[in-house]
Amino acid sequence: MEIHHIGIAVQDLQEAAKPYLELGYTLEAQGQVESQGVEVWMLKSGPSRLELLKATRPDSAIARFIEKRGPGLHHIALATPDIGAELKRLASSGVPLIDPTPRPGFGGHQVAFIHPKWSGGVLVELVEAHS
Ligand code: CO
Repeated sequence: MEIHHIGIAVQDLQEAAKPYLELGYTLEAQGQVESQGVEVWMLKSGPSRLELLKATRPDSAIARFIEKRGPGLHHIALATPDIGAELKRLASSGVPLIDPTPRPGFGGHQVAFIHPKWSGGVLVELVEAHS
């Protein structure tokens, strides 16, 4: 599975983007995922993407994350061509899934999160995509 993007929790999208823009990243897409209470800037450089995530509501997962740990690395996202089949396979192996079924993520992708207790404290997101 290739890395689709790395998710970073931020308080200010413009400020947080500055260093990456300086390093040659460009803004690929921006928008909101209303159901998750986040505003997203997707930065891209070659095949690499950084997903900057800002909370739009105090009860969003990103707001709670920043409250507990401060801004910084939030998750890694891995691309899978068939997320439904992958989730089924993982569930049957007893992998603790935060999302047993896919939900809409940024950019029209179907996504699902795996519990970080399974992956050494790293929150893993699966994204249905080819890269
Ligand atoms: Co993500």
